Amino acid sequence: MTQITLRRPDDMHLHLRDGAMLEAVLPETARHFARAIIMPNLVPPVVTARDAAAYRDRILAALPDGMAFDPLMTLYLTEATDPADVAAAHASGLVKAVKLYPAGATTNSQSGVRDFDKVRGVLEKMAEIGLPLCVHGEVTDSDIDIFDREAVFIDRVLDPIRRATPGLRVVMEHVTTKDGIDYIGETEKNLAGTITTHHLIINRNHILAGGIRPHYYCLPVAKRELHRLALREAATSGDKRYFLGTDSAPHPDHLKEHACGCAGCFTATNTMALLAHVFGEEGALDRLEGFTSNHGAAFYGLPANEDRITLEKTTTPARFPAKIDTGAGTITVFDPGFPVHWQVRD
Ligand code: NCD
Ligand code: ZN
Repeated sequence: MTQITLRRPDDMHLHLRDGAMLEAVLPETARHFARAIIMPNLVPPVVTARDAAAYRDRILAALPDGMAFDPLMTLYLTEATDPADVAAAHASGLVKAVKLYPAGATTNSQSGVRDFDKVRGVLEKMAEIGLPLCVHGEVTDSDIDIFDREAVFIDRVLDPIRRATPGLRVVMEHVTTKDGIDYIGETEKNLAGTITTHHLIINRNHILAGGIRPHYYCLPVAKRELHRLALREAATSGDKRYFLGTDSAPHPDHLKEHACGCAGCFTATNTMALLAHVFGEEGALDRLEGFTSNHGAAFYGLPANEDRITLEKTTTPARFPAKIDTGAGTITVFDPGFPVHWQVRD
């Protein structure tokens, strides 16, 4: 196969930030993607319907002329979130999901949830109106090893929430373990998982062996190879419960290459080419469209995109910018560490 045409993809987990960073990274996504679920972990976070409407306006204002892109907004769940505000934001069509960050789990999650009983009312309202909950699935207890945090989250938090509110539709975001894949695989309804591009490519050795590579550090952190293989199998299986959420998360280089470097891989620029490479390696190019363009839209009850993009195979390795200059510092584009022979045709 030398080229493949897909429905224009959607990115069901994306960090666009704000201000100068937003301006620089938005075109990287909008060039290939029709829509994205926009993460609300700004400082301060996007908590109310009003915050989400204002952030959506800022995103649309930053979109270059001639580009089309539909930001699908989310609300950041706090212990003070008002169920009526959430319901109104959903009813107006503004908000497509609510995001649960356990307090302290990742970048800008200080306002997240500590006591899950305090958000029960919101979760019940969401189940009633069919609004999905996106979860950052890691516990934050300091006595839990960072590589075990996803598996422990399933047992201690996710499964109890789903049992207490069975009608709640949940997206387990950026699944990084076989445990996560097994949990989703056992569930018949109301649960899906997003998988990032980078977790299909790197395992924890890529971060730590032969020198520490800060640009491969993200949360949830990449795990052992057996987990990466389980993610690859799930993503390329054609199973509708798995879809792309890149978790492309830009941070300026000076904060990544730091004594206490931030978590996040920036993959918006080359994600589609990298996925074509991965799906090609797995002999599953015919399933790429399901993963990037159909399953997510179906889960969120959105119409499939009518527009198409074409990926073509290149004879010489495709060239992507290594860095992108932004008004908020230079960012590094995810380097898969191998030559890629795919590119999106302009
Ligand atoms: C994200 C960020 O930088 O906002 N970082 C990351 O490593 N993925 C937050 C998140 O999704 O965990
Ligand atoms: Zn994220």
